[in-house]
Amino acid sequence: MNFLDDKEYYNIIKDIVNHEEFLKRKDFLHHENESVYEHSLKVSYVAYKIAKLLGVDKEKAAIGGLLHDFYYEPWQDKLGKKSPFFKKHGFVHAKEALENSCKYFNKYMDKKTKNIILRHMFPLNIIPPRYIEAWIVTMADKYVSMSVLKHPKAWPKYLGLKPKNNN
Ligand SMILES: [Fe+2]
Ligand SMILES: [Fe+2]
Repeated sequence: MNFLDDKEYYNIIKDIVNHEEFLKRKDFLHHENESVYEHSLKVSYVAYKIAKLLGVDKEKAAIGGLLHDFYYEPWQDKLGKKSPFFKKHGFVHAKEALENSCKYFNKYMDKKTKNIILRHMFPLNIIPPRYIEAWIVTMADKYVSMSVLKHPKAWPKYLGLKPKNNN
């Protein structure tokens, strides 16, 4: 299914999804066979549908979901570079995504949307989400990432802990 065919959803996210900086995520690999663009769109759409079903803020769920992994550079580029454990991708990319979202899409950055992005890596990042929409996005992210979760050997790499060609 092409999520962008859903008119109501598309109208919420069209400014972001067509933005040149966001489109660069088509070339960022999220994991083996999926770009950050595809991953983010899936998380956003699943979160939007759940929020709509529950009668909570579907716009913020859609936008927060779309920007939750809007970090600066492909995380694979950092693999193998020395950095302290708590500076690894899994721990820092939510904060990076928030900074980058404020840079490019500041008009959408109210406190709820910021919380969605900043807290989506709970429980790896130990502070839990504050809003129902942020819980929806963090769960949607885990659900959509299931293909990675099914392969425990891929976890360290997914979290940015192991050089890609080191096995
Ligand atoms: Fe993430
Ligand atoms: Fe994600």
